[in-house]
Parts: sequence; structure tokens; C-alpha cells
Amino acid sequence: MTKKLLIIDDNKEVVEVVSLILTDLFGNIDSANTVDEAEELLSKNVYDLIFLDINLENRNGAEVVKFLIEASENPNKASPFVIISGIITPQFVDRYQKRFAGILMKPFEHDDVLAIVEKILNASNIAEPIQPDEVGVDEIPFLKCDLPFPIIQLDQRVNKILDQVRKSPKLKQLFAQLKVDRTTDNYVLSHIGILINISTAICINMEWNTDKTLEKFVYASYLHDMALSQRPDLARINTSEALEAKKESLSPSDYKLILEHPNIASNSIAGMREIPQDVDAIIRQHHELPKGTGYPLKIGHQKISPLSVVFIIAHDLTEYILANPKWKIEDYVEKSKSKFQGAHFIKILRSLANVN
Ligand SMILES: [Fe+2]
Ligand SMILES: [Fe+2]
Repeated sequence: MTKKLLIIDDNKEVVEVVSLILTDLFGNIDSANTVDEAEELLSKNVYDLIFLDINLENRNGAEVVKFLIEASENPNKASPFVIISGIITPQFVDRYQKRFAGILMKPFEHDDVLAIVEKILNASNIAEPIQPDEVGVDEIPFLKCDLPFPIIQLDQRVNKILDQVRKSPKLKQLFAQLKVDRTTDNYVLSHIGILINISTAICINMEWNTDKTLEKFVYASYLHDMALSQRPDLARINTSEALEAKKESLSPSDYKLILEHPNIASNSIAGMREIPQDVDAIIRQHHELPKGTGYPLKIGHQKISPLSVVFIIAHDLTEYILANPKWKIEDYVEKSKSKFQGAHFIKILRSLANVN
């Protein structure tokens, strides 16, 4: 997987120099010049390494450290970070050193930067031995996709796609991050299986049912809620109304995580050559609605891609089926007419009435 680096420094020259030195080691380098920019990037992306300039006279630098260590909405809690500074007090080192991966004292030489980064990357390879052959097959949960619609050979076709995932070290590592807790709740897995089934059923009806399209929906179904895979309680909240109704009982960080989970998942796969085209857009848009009442982008139907429309409707119907054991497709279509507008949404909803 492309390694991601974040450099937080108000000095643009330092950002430029560190980027240049590390450009061969990281496929993706972001930078932030302010605390706000840093927090924004940190809440939306997962970095393999973070460089943080800290001026201890300036409380802003300490705020970033605090955010890195304490903020629950920060998905980079486990990411290694290196402090860049000219003034590190012994008290500061005492207090936070366990959490640093290294300290780079200013002024520094190119070789100092490389040495510290190589040491950290090697250590993290040893600490996290997620090598292709060591990830159990079970890390990529196979699931039944034979409900609710009978689709010939769908399980076999999906398994073929998952075999490709198992063969690719990068994909295997990505899917291993799902870490679905199957002991407490199988909501996440049933949700994925039904989603694959319904999006395929829609594609069959629309005559879009190619192996390539199925592949896109299998990836999107598995990965769209990856930021919530260990929080089935939050994954169950699927509409703006449900989210607002629960707002009082949610912590601000859980609220933000729900709002941002499409962006977090989409950002973490963006640029991966192993993932089929369009999957990142489908994932980013999976809670959008044609009238602009979805989230996080609040875009209207003109801006929602046709494949995302299939996935949004499949996702909505999946929730309907899980919530209504006596569901009927006619009832769903009737109830959903007012919610879905725009040519693509209407066409696909109509086609659902013919799925059997
Ligand atoms: Fe979902
Ligand atoms: Fe979701």
C-alpha cells in the first residue's frame, strides 16, 4: 500500500525539505501549516508517519500532541510521530517520550531524517507482522450472498473475487483492517452480504451485470463502513434523521465519526491501484441522498454517480429488510418513491419492482 506521510510545520521551507528527502519512501505526502489544517487532515486520513514541529513556547504545538494522543476522533492514535524541534525540555520528553517514535533536533542534516524514518519503518514492519501468508483466511470474512434474491452462482462469483484479494498482499492487509467483531454482533456481516446481493440484483435488471461491476460492488460492500467495523452500534445509524435524533446520546467524537466514515474509508483506499475504479466514489457517496439531505457532502442527485445510485438504493433496501422481517419489495418501492428523485434514482427504483 502507498505509504502516507504528514508533515506539520508552520515553516514552509522545512516542509519542502523534509518532503524532498522522503519522496522516495512515501507515495503520498500531505502537509499542514496550522493546527486547524493538521487536525482536519488527521481526522480524515490514516498516516504511516507524522512529522510534527513543536515549539514549546507556543501552546499550539502542544495542542497537536494532545490531539494526537487524546482525541478519540483521531484515527491516527497508533501512528508513529516524530517531533521536530530546536527546544525540547526534559519535562516534555519525560511526559510524552513513550508516544514519540523519534525526535529530530533542528538544525538537521538530510541523513538524520532518513536514518530516523528508516528506523521507524523497519520497526513497524517488525511490530506489525501482517505479511501475506500470516493473515489468516478468516481475516477476509466470506459471507453468504444468497439473500434476499436468488441469484445463480453469486456466492461462487464473489468467492472468486475474494480469492484475488487473498492473493494480493496489499488488499489482504486492507481487508484485515476490517477486524469485524463477530462474537458480539453479526450486523456488519449480514449487512455486507445483503448489500452485494441487492446491488447485483439491480445490475442484472439494468443489464449492467458484468464481472467488473460485481467486483466494484463487492469491494464497496466490504469496505464502505470500514471505519465503523468495530462499532456496529454506530454502523446501524444510517440516515441524517436517525443521526440527529441520536445526537444527544452520542459523544461528539462518535457523532463526527458517523458523519465522516464515508470520507475516512474513501480516503484510505484512494490511489490504490489494486482497487477497481469508482469504488472510492461509491464509498464516499454511500450516505448521500438525491435531495441533498444525505451526508457528508450533502450533494444532490445531479452529482451522484450512477453506480453510487445503485449502491445507495441497495444500502437503503438492505436496512429496510433488516428492520422489517416481513418486508415486501412492493412496500419498499411505494414507501421510497417520495425520497428518491432524479432520473437515475427513479429508473433504478422502478427496476426494483421487477426484481424477483
Ligand atoms: Fe453501511
Ligand atoms: Fe455507512
